[in-house]
Amino acid sequence: MTTEASVDLGALGERFTRDPFPVYAELRARGPVHRVRIPEGASAWLVVGYEEGRAALADQRFSKQWRNASPALVARQVSAGTSMLSSDAPVHTRLRKLVAREFTARRVQQLVPRIQRMTGELLDAMLALPGRRTDLVEALSYPLPMSVICELLGVPFLDRQAFREWSNTAVSSVDAAARRAATDDMSGYLTGLLAGKRQQPGDDLMSALIHTAGEEGDRLCEEELIGMAWLLLVAGHETTVSLITNGVLALLTHPEQLAALRADFGLIDNAVEEMLRYAGPVETPTYRFTTEEVEIGGTVIPGGGELVLVAMSDANRDPGRYPDADRFDITRDARGHVAFGHGIHYCLGAPLARVEAAVAIRSLLERCPDLALDTDPAALNWRTGVLIRGPETLPVRW
Ligand code: HEM
Repeated sequence: MTTEASVDLGALGERFTRDPFPVYAELRARGPVHRVRIPEGASAWLVVGYEEGRAALADQRFSKQWRNASPALVARQVSAGTSMLSSDAPVHTRLRKLVAREFTARRVQQLVPRIQRMTGELLDAMLALPGRRTDLVEALSYPLPMSVICELLGVPFLDRQAFREWSNTAVSSVDAAARRAATDDMSGYLTGLLAGKRQQPGDDLMSALIHTAGEEGDRLCEEELIGMAWLLLVAGHETTVSLITNGVLALLTHPEQLAALRADFGLIDNAVEEMLRYAGPVETPTYRFTTEEVEIGGTVIPGGGELVLVAMSDANRDPGRYPDADRFDITRDARGHVAFGHGIHYCLGAPLARVEAAVAIRSLLERCPDLALDTDPAALNWRTGVLIRGPETLPVRW
């Protein structure tokens, strides 16, 4: 076994950040598993392609627990507390069950009128701007999911700017020390928030989680509550921001698809599925570590805590699964994509994310009949790292 990186994705720089798809496709043509160095610095085993990628996401021989990571790994955990996303069964089963009792389809449905109202208010403010141009991330893609997740969790007075910086740094910075510092600051903030909720519970998910009890009175401890709050806050908005932004970008750069949607807004839900497939916000999921040797397509990945990543963006563009996979087509059957993951860690917030994106994008197009990009798409700056994929800003005019 060689520990040398065979492909240094970090060294590809801008070219890879902007458009990773051809790089992944080239790897896929050579086989499903590759030794790579990721831009964040760590060496990893990267799984490409749909079948192998999907299977790897659900393979429980890969652990989500950092204590199973090889000591040689040049990476550190960037989450606060203990969460379901960094645990394996049966701990995962217990944590997921406790939150699923409270984070129900009914709670999401109850939020829909609020999502519509918040979107309307953000678009009112955007349309009142002088010059009829703005950065869509600032005006809509960022504040909407942020407000929704704060509403859901009961965080009315959140220090949004500081929170935004911590969260952004924790998931997208390639500087490990900065990621750690942001995580520590966020932990401190959440501890205070929970203490407040214990004293003065509200009608929100965090208050419900403090008091929820499963079978035999099982409850979440402080460490787990912090982990849950961190996970919901970060997972609940960083991703959705990029879904709205990537989705609008895909429409504005594919005028015939935009016209089809404008002609029939009944296509919006299908269009959102295609946006998730074609330009999903999660490029590779959170880290998995080997607990034993695992063979995939003839390559043996050693045990002992080796880092394994799945190129989900590539799985969703595999022509073996989706004909003409690089084509953005809002009428295609995009079901089966892995943008929300697969297996026991399948995204808990998928129904909420889908509703937010559908409401935001449809309302934006309805309110701005002549919406257009206000930049050359090639000039956009993309978020660094391989976790989240999306442009940092999206200049638009109307
Ligand atoms: C477009 C938006 C979103 C995308 C693309 C997305 C994607 C994902 C993915 C890929 C995973 C699995 C990660 C892995 O297996 O390593 C995941 C897990 C998770 N997501 Fe999302 N997510 C989105 C929005 C949300 C929202 C809005 C929430 C909550 C409000 C949320 C909460 C979670 C939670 C709690 C998990 C962990 C589930 C578990 O470990 O069992 N996500 N998400």
